[in-house]
Parts: sequence; C-alpha cells; structure tokens
Amino acid sequence: MPELMTYEREYGVAIITIDSPPVNALGHAVRSAVVEAFEKAAQDKDVDAIVLTCGGRTFFAGADITEFGKPMKSPHLGEMLDVIEASPKLTVAAIHGTALGGGCETALCCNYRIAIPSAKIGLPEVNLGLLPGAGGTQRLPRLVGVPIALDMITSGKPINANTALDYGVFDKLADEVALRADAVAYARALVDNEAPKVRVRDREDKIAEYKGNIEVFDNFRKKNARKFRGFKAPENIIKCIEAAVELPFDESIARERELFMELMGSIESAAQRYVFFAERQTAKVPDVPNDTPTRDIKRVGVIGAGTMGGGITMNFLSAGVPVTLVEQTEEALDRGVGVIRKNYESSVRKGRMSMDAVETAMGFINPTTELEALGDADLIIEAVFEQMDIKKEIFGKLGKIAKDGAILASNTSYLDIDEIAASTNRPQDVMGLHFFSPANIMPLLEIVRGENTSKDLINTAMVLSKKIRKTPVLSRVGHGFIANRVMTVRGKQANMMALQGVSPADIDRVIFDYGFAMGPFQMFDLVGLDVIGRDANEKTVASELVARDRLGQKKNGGYYDYDENRKATLSPLAMDIIKEVADEKGVDQISADDDEILARLLYPVVNEGAKVLDENIAIRGSDIDIACIKGYNWPVYRGGPMFWADTVGLDKIVATLSDFEKRFGEAFTPSPFLEKCAASGERLSQVVNE
Ligand code: 3HC
Repeated sequence: MPELMTYEREYGVAIITIDSPPVNALGHAVRSAVVEAFEKAAQDKDVDAIVLTCGGRTFFAGADITEFGKPMKSPHLGEMLDVIEASPKLTVAAIHGTALGGGCETALCCNYRIAIPSAKIGLPEVNLGLLPGAGGTQRLPRLVGVPIALDMITSGKPINANTALDYGVFDKLADEVALRADAVAYARALVDNEAPKVRVRDREDKIAEYKGNIEVFDNFRKKNARKFRGFKAPENIIKCIEAAVELPFDESIARERELFMELMGSIESAAQRYVFFAERQTAKVPDVPNDTPTRDIKRVGVIGAGTMGGGITMNFLSAGVPVTLVEQTEEALDRGVGVIRKNYESSVRKGRMSMDAVETAMGFINPTTELEALGDADLIIEAVFEQMDIKKEIFGKLGKIAKDGAILASNTSYLDIDEIAASTNRPQDVMGLHFFSPANIMPLLEIVRGENTSKDLINTAMVLSKKIRKTPVLSRVGHGFIANRVMTVRGKQANMMALQGVSPADIDRVIFDYGFAMGPFQMFDLVGLDVIGRDANEKTVASELVARDRLGQKKNGGYYDYDENRKATLSPLAMDIIKEVADEKGVDQISADDDEILARLLYPVVNEGAKVLDENIAIRGSDIDIACIKGYNWPVYRGGPMFWADTVGLDKIVATLSDFEKRFGEAFTPSPFLEKCAASGERLSQVVNE
C-alpha cells in the first residue's frame, strides 16, 4: 500500500499528495489526512503556497459512497473544505484523471486549478440520486454561470480539460506528463506575482445577472420535464442553483445541505446508489477470478445481417474491431450493410458522430456470402432465425470452419445453448452472447454460460463487453435466460388483463407512471405485432390484429390508431377484437384499480426473478435488477424488480400473489424461494448464489 499522505516542500511550495487506491475516494482517513496536511502547511514557515494533488489513477473521485447511510465521522467533507478554503497560504489543486463530485468540490475550494489535458472534472452526484452536497451547486455557478451549471450538474456529465479551461473551471493546463512540476512552478509564480487568493465563494460576476430571473430556471424545468420525470435530484439541484443566485453564500449553502439530506433519505437515491455498486458487481463471477486467462479478439464474425446481426456488428465497428459479416444472398447483405450505414448517418445528423468516424467504422466491415470467410475470426456470433435446427446446422459447420481457439457464440434469446453446443465438436468453445434490441444501443449483454463453456470464454466476454460499452450479466442456460424471462410475464399479464376488460390505455398509463418510457401495448405497437405475435399458436388479439394487416406503428396502427404526428388513441377496432377474443375464450370480466393493475403486472416479474435465483440461473438478485434496467429500461430510481420488491415488502407481495392465485390461477403461485425470503427477512436484492 502506498503512503496515504505525503508532505513535501519544493521552492517554498508544500506538495500534499494523497494516495488512497483505487480512486482516492474522500473517506474518513483521507479527509483526516488532508486536514492534518493543510494544518501543517499553515504552520510551515518555509511554505508560501500549497499544491494539493493525488497519486494513482485519479484526483479524488468523490465522497466515499460506501460511507453513505452510516454515521459520518468528523472531519466531515464540509469541515475539510472549510480548512482548505481558509488556508492562509495560496492553494492550487493539481488534477489528473477524473475530479468528480466531492473531488471537484475540493478543487473548487482551492484558489487555483491546474490540470493535465486528459483530465476531466464534473459533478455526477445526480447519477446517485443526490446533489453535490459540499458546495458544488454554490461554487460551480460562480465560475461558469447559471445555464452551464444547470446543464452540468443535472446531467452529471464531466467535461474535458479544454472545456473546463474555456469555462474558467481550470485556470491553466499542465504538460500531460509533468503535472507536479508544472503545478509547483505555477504556485510559485502566483505567489511571486502576488496573485490574489481567489475564493470562489466570493465571486458574484457570473451569477449577478440571474438575480430575480425566474424564467431561466422555469424554462430549464420545462425543457427537461420528460428527462427528469420520476427523479427527485434534478429538481433539488435546480433549487440549489436558484438559492446560489438569490441568497447570501452562508444561507444558500445551508439550503444546499438541507436539499442534499432530503435526497440522501429518499428511496430514489438509495436505489441509484445500489445500482452504482450492482453494476460493478455483474462482472464478478465467483468461480472465474479476474486473472483467468482471456482470448485475444482481433477479428469478429457475425452471421446474419438482419436487425440483430447489423446492430451487433455496429458495436464492434464502433470499437475499431474488424467484422466479417455473413449473409446468404448478396441482396440481404447489401440491405444489411445499407442499414448499418444509415444508422451511423443518422448519428451524424444528430451531431453524435462525424462523417469521418462513419467512414472509419464502415472501413472495418467485410461483407461476404461465404461462411468459410470466418476461418480467421477469433469470435463468431450467430444471429439468425430463432430456430434450433438452423442454429445446429450452422454450429455444425462452424466446428469445421472456425480456427482452433475461436469462440462460437449464439445470440439466441430463448434456445438451449447446450443443445447448440452439442452440434459442434468443441462445446467448451460455445457460449451465448445475447444482445438486446436495438443491439447497437441497448447496454445489456447477457453472457450465457453452457454446461461445458470454458472459464476463459466467460472472462473474455466480460472484458470484451467493456470494450464495446455493454454491461455484462452472466446467465446459466434456461428458457429466456434472465431479462426476457422475467419481463415476459409482464406482457402475458397485460394481455390477460386486457381480455378481462381492463383498458390497455389504463395498463399503459400505470406502467408509464411507474417510470417506464412506455406501457406494454405501446411497446407491442412499436416493436410490431407481427414480431410479437409470430410464435403464437393460438388465436390472440395480436394475431387477429395482424390478420387485419394492423402491424402496429409501422402499418395501419395496432392497439392504438396513430395520426400523422404519431399521436395515439386507443383503436375501437382493437377494442372490438379484444372483446371478441375474450368472449370466445369465455374470460370473466373484472375491474381493477391502478394499484391492482400494477401488482398484476409487476409482482409476477418479482416472482419470476425469485425463480431465476432459486434455479441458479442468475448469480445475484442485483444481476437481475441490472438486466432489467439495462435491457428493458426499468426505471433506475426504482432499483430494478428485486430492489423494488424489497422496498414494497416481500410479505405483502407473497400475500397479494396468493390472493391473485385464488382469483386467477397458477400463473401467480408464489415461488417457494420468494416465500422463504419473505419469511426469513432475506432481501432479494442481496441474494448471492456462490
Ligand atoms: N466511493 C467509493 N468507492 C468508489 C467510488 C466512490 N466515490 N468511486 C469508485 N469506487 C470504487 C468502485 O466501486 C470500484 O470498486 P471495486 O473495484 O471494488 O468494484 C473501484 O472504485 C473502481 O471503480 P470503477 O470500476 O468504476 O473504475 P473506473 O476506472 O471505470 O472509473 C471512476 C473510475 C470514473 C472514478 C468511477 O468509479 C466513478 O464514476 N465513480 C463515482 C464517482 C462519483 O459518483 N462521485 C461522486 C460521489 S458522491 C459525492 O461526492 C457527494 C458529495 O457531493 C458530497
């Protein structure tokens, strides 16, 4: 372990270096060390200025999140910052890596900030359902003005060093490899030139013009209403910045504290903090340690240039990994490559990508109709129809074509990876890599581990997922793996309730109000009823709509009719079909209030999640949550189905499911594992299958 704090002196400048791996989080020991060092420097007669810097990979990455929710030990972050700000010697923060949250706030309490060009700075607390609670909402607007501060703090996105220099957050850039020397020289020069000991808190020039300007805040609220829906933190952040403009510093910082504490006690923030750690857990596999060897993936092969294959391909192209894309016919290949280009070009139109970057990405693609062309691929991902015999045929061929050591993966959503693996001569090299549609956008990647999948494949997939910016979740083989399996029951219940006479519009509204972007019927219409209804062997509302050429938004509407602005109204024809199907099946009609609708839709998801844990399909309850958040946009401030169930109370969920079971049948039978957790007080979000 490095020394936590070192104190050195050069040219009359004290250099305080904190080194607390991995990210110099501002835990109690670090705060104490900073205070001690600043007090020492204050007394040090040979020192005119102080440089505060960090060792390791980054400047302070923020408050220590693991301390949240526990009693705080003095010196608190605020007390530490007071000591820095009150320093009798001129202070300079010397920044590398990411100065985030409390780290950024620490830098803002120094008189000057110097950073290397690769450094970033920002206030990401909003991602934890919090606000910067150590003066960030008060000091940042004083440096950058109100509009930029509103954007930066409510988005949580860090800015790079050049932007920070432009905005006046950084005062100077250092040489990339000479931060320490440049910072000392800078501090020395500031003292020698009698530069003022600027306290950011005293600056009014950038905020004065916003005094009494309510509009700037209200317009910001209106503009972002959709984005902020359901989250508590953005509104509190806006209130803090209003206070920064309107109140004297001491009063507004007290207001910041109050609004911070309010968030700290909220379920929304507890959920988001849980998600922060849960996301970092998913790559940890008990029997596959991080030092398990990985295979080198220099070239990828993708079979199938349809919607999924194309999306999967884009992930690799964007990461600079060459892809051999295989289709059966030239037409299908041209169509697939054309869609990839079109998708990239739409990113250019949205300003997210340059045309040069598009050409670079497209340069990595090698389209072909020859399966044999996959002979040099290190990883081959099959993304063809969900039909076992087709998959087996392909994997049989791959066993002969692929080079030794190549990974053979299937993007199947439901099928048995072990059966697919058995069709090759190398089942240890076979795994599932299950992407979520649209595959170039949705962040979830389910890594499916077969009976014989070798451990180095799993570690390779974990490392690879980071490279293509996906969040990996490991699943054992089981119908639908994790996310699809637990979420499918919601769709089934939505359909059942509609047949029982509950309006699809009410069902969609309840789900929207819970925090999803849309309800199940809106989603069916968006995805396409032909896609949803494809596997149906029985007469369903979706299959009847398709029979009338109503495919959803893409053709003639579905459950809803759409006007030219895509405004939806419930379709009278769809309602007639629902009634017709319900009558034919003799479904009893019910009425249900919003609470019951929500319970009918989401408690079965919780129940299915409990089964997935019990069957050892998922390693952790929190992995299920991450799969639902990253694969199905489960609202992050609910923490996912398992965390949410814990907040509702497992007792209550079991009792309600039992009641539904009596009324509607075995689809609701509580899983014995759920009953066991409810009885023992174990929380689903904390379950770990070792
Ligand atoms: N507190 C405690 N642990 C932290 C932490 C923090 N603020 N930030 C990161 N860690 C831990 C991670 O959990 C992880 O632990 P593990 O190895 O045991 O899983 C380890 O540090 C490394 O983190 P990453 O895997 O995320 O490493 P990366 O290099 O990918 O990213 C990072 C580094 C950009 C600093 C990223 O970790 C990050 O974004 N951290 C959170 C930053 C943040 O939100 N800061 C604000 C905190 S709240 C605050 O400051 C409130 C204040 O206003 C009062």
